[in-house]
Amino acid sequence: MDYIVNGGRRLTGEIAVYGAKNCALALLGATVLTEQEFVLRNCPQIVDVENMLKLLGAMGKKTVRFNDVVRVSGGLTTTSAPYSLATLLRGSALILGSTVAKYREIDLPLPGGCAIGARPMDIHLDGLEALGIEVSCNERGVSCRGEPKGARYNLRFASVGATENLLCACVLAKGQSVLTNCATEPEVVALEQLLVKMGANLQGVGTSTVVIDGVESLRGVEFDVIPDRIVAATYLSAAVATLGDVTVTNCNPTHLKAFLDTLSPHFFVEQTESAIHIVAERQPQGYGSITTAPYPLFPTDMQSLMLSLAAFSNGGSTTICEKLFENRLKHNADELNKMGASVTVDGDYAVVSGKKLHSACVASHDLRGGAGLVIAALNADGRSVVSGVEHINRGYSRLAENLRTLGADIVNSD
Ligand code: EPU
Repeated sequence: MDYIVNGGRRLTGEIAVYGAKNCALALLGATVLTEQEFVLRNCPQIVDVENMLKLLGAMGKKTVRFNDVVRVSGGLTTTSAPYSLATLLRGSALILGSTVAKYREIDLPLPGGCAIGARPMDIHLDGLEALGIEVSCNERGVSCRGEPKGARYNLRFASVGATENLLCACVLAKGQSVLTNCATEPEVVALEQLLVKMGANLQGVGTSTVVIDGVESLRGVEFDVIPDRIVAATYLSAAVATLGDVTVTNCNPTHLKAFLDTLSPHFFVEQTESAIHIVAERQPQGYGSITTAPYPLFPTDMQSLMLSLAAFSNGGSTTICEKLFENRLKHNADELNKMGASVTVDGDYAVVSGKKLHSACVASHDLRGGAGLVIAALNADGRSVVSGVEHINRGYSRLAENLRTLGADIVNSD
């Protein structure tokens, strides 16, 4: 499916953000830790989350959705994750820690997800081994067996997914675990808060060192998925692309600090506790130098948006260094250049000279890259076609409809 975008329309108005994909996936992974009922509110209706629910359902969990409220209950009836579902999304890896902690075994086909570069799982597996789990891995998948025992473990990199899996494995482990160099992304913090609410004995929520004393069992709870900071950044980028005046509501501005710090010198940006108002009057002369890194620094998931903003800036230059996923720069640089951009990529480094963009047919290769191309198309004069909408739908709910409420001219091709 394609998006057809007639660019150049100024966006104005207010738009609410829904729950974060990467938070919902981590929380759903944690539902395996108990048979009691979970109620997840603000759970986004997007393809990756629906596939995660199907995966849990296929493994025995009862899952029911009513609008944005999802109920998950019951136990697993199998610890073998079906290949056809597990390989649809990277988030399927987030049942690893919880399943081995609760059921002492799991067989998981290698998870799928966006083609944004090699996505190794060595930290997940090394960490589980440190907890005494027997791990074997081949080209078909990963098998883990055994009862987790408390241990000290330092993550060699603050991986979001590895931190989430290890937290879930430690909460039911025998004895005390000390995890150091943990990721502190808001989605990880939400998982830590959920685990505490479930009855986990966990100290250091939101910090890079988390101390966990394993407990015998955990209870089901009600919990709100946090707002999607990347979706919020996407709407703000759409405002910049069209020199618009947009208020993004139902978000947490503190989660977007690095992004807002990059935009604030150039635009009117006003924040309240749960909303961001942006007014863009002119394109700036580049954005200086941006490097992606773990939270709270500039997130890789907003890099594709930033690449587009830099591409249509008013002359000047921006350098972007992508430190996490090696393929994220190149694909979008090639597509933006079809729109008249001047983006030169050398490895993990891009130099962007701001140019007026023109419409073109461009292809999304991954979720965030696809959103970046939509932003570029909103800026470019004329009719652009953005293909690969199926990538975008993995993480965005009704992107075209929502942008249309702000005045964009964007439709699905069919
Ligand atoms: N890494 C390793 N070994 C590991 C794990 C990670 O070398 O065992 C490396 C990766 O190759 C990468 C870096 O560590 O270079 C960061 O990876 P991380 O594990 O933090 O990412 P992830 O857990 O696979 C989550 C999000 C991504 C987001 C990253 C970074 C989910 C389901 N996915 O992935 O979201 O980009 O954290 O913040 O939570 C997206 O939403 O489009 C997306 C890709």
